[in-house]
Amino acid sequence: MADPAWTEDTSAAFRDLSHYAVPEREIQLETILALIPEPQDGATAMEICCGAGELTSSMLARFPTLRVMALDGSESMLKATRAAAGSTAERLQTAIIDIAATGWRIPPEPLHAVVSSLAIHHLDGPGKQRPFADIHGALKPGGVFVMADLIEPATAAGRTVAAETCDAETRRRALDTDGTLDGYERFVAEDWNYYRLQEPDPVDMPSSVGDLFDWMRAAGFAGVDLHWMKAGHVIMSGLLV
Ligand SMILES: C[S@@+](CC[C@H](N)C(=O)[O-])C[C@H]1O[C@@H](n2cnc3c(N)ncnc32)[C@H](O)[C@@H]1O
Repeated sequence: MADPAWTEDTSAAFRDLSHYAVPEREIQLETILALIPEPQDGATAMEICCGAGELTSSMLARFPTLRVMALDGSESMLKATRAAAGSTAERLQTAIIDIAATGWRIPPEPLHAVVSSLAIHHLDGPGKQRPFADIHGALKPGGVFVMADLIEPATAAGRTVAAETCDAETRRRALDTDGTLDGYERFVAEDWNYYRLQEPDPVDMPSSVGDLFDWMRAAGFAGVDLHWMKAGHVIMSGLLV
């Protein structure tokens, strides 16, 4: 694992709890897919920190000619991603990266899309700005960067709203999925509500929506927009025109 603060135990815990803890996960996936232009034959997309491969496998299924490079720092996450791809794995390439390193930002060919979910907040503020410029430079004209992530609320009231909606959404997902609150109770017991933490884990460094907008525009993206927001989570995108 590239980042010692995120271990294979963290990967396993995330695979167990993320179904409950990620708000409107299915709507998020559909929103990200809807923002990716229909690819031409031979187009390649990149997912940064693909986790267990929900988004990568959804892209491979939705776009039957798209090739996907799925990158992560965790071997077990890449193994799960390859399994999730099933018969589409012939269009999948996986690689271990450290998100803070630069090599992954120079792909072998210009990209149709770069996507990330709950990844960019593992970089601090200055650490986000250079990758935004590098991702912009890695796209083809017409290509898109779609980022789903946690954000840092700008006010204390905004943090309280995020904390409460995170709890409410996790309760709802636990009940809808299992008919019990077990998933929600684990989320609470394991201190997974970022917005309730007095001392957040140093691996989590979300930025404000305002800063993310500014840094995406400064990196050269056009049409920078916010498409969805719930419980302190956003989906934003920008285009290379
Ligand atoms: C919060 S999970 C999100 C996973 C997936 N994108 C999703 O939405 O379900 C964060 C992912 O980032 C990876 N990760 C954490 N720190 C990393 C680092 N420094 N370099 C590369 N990957 C890292 C983890 O292995 C994990 O798969």
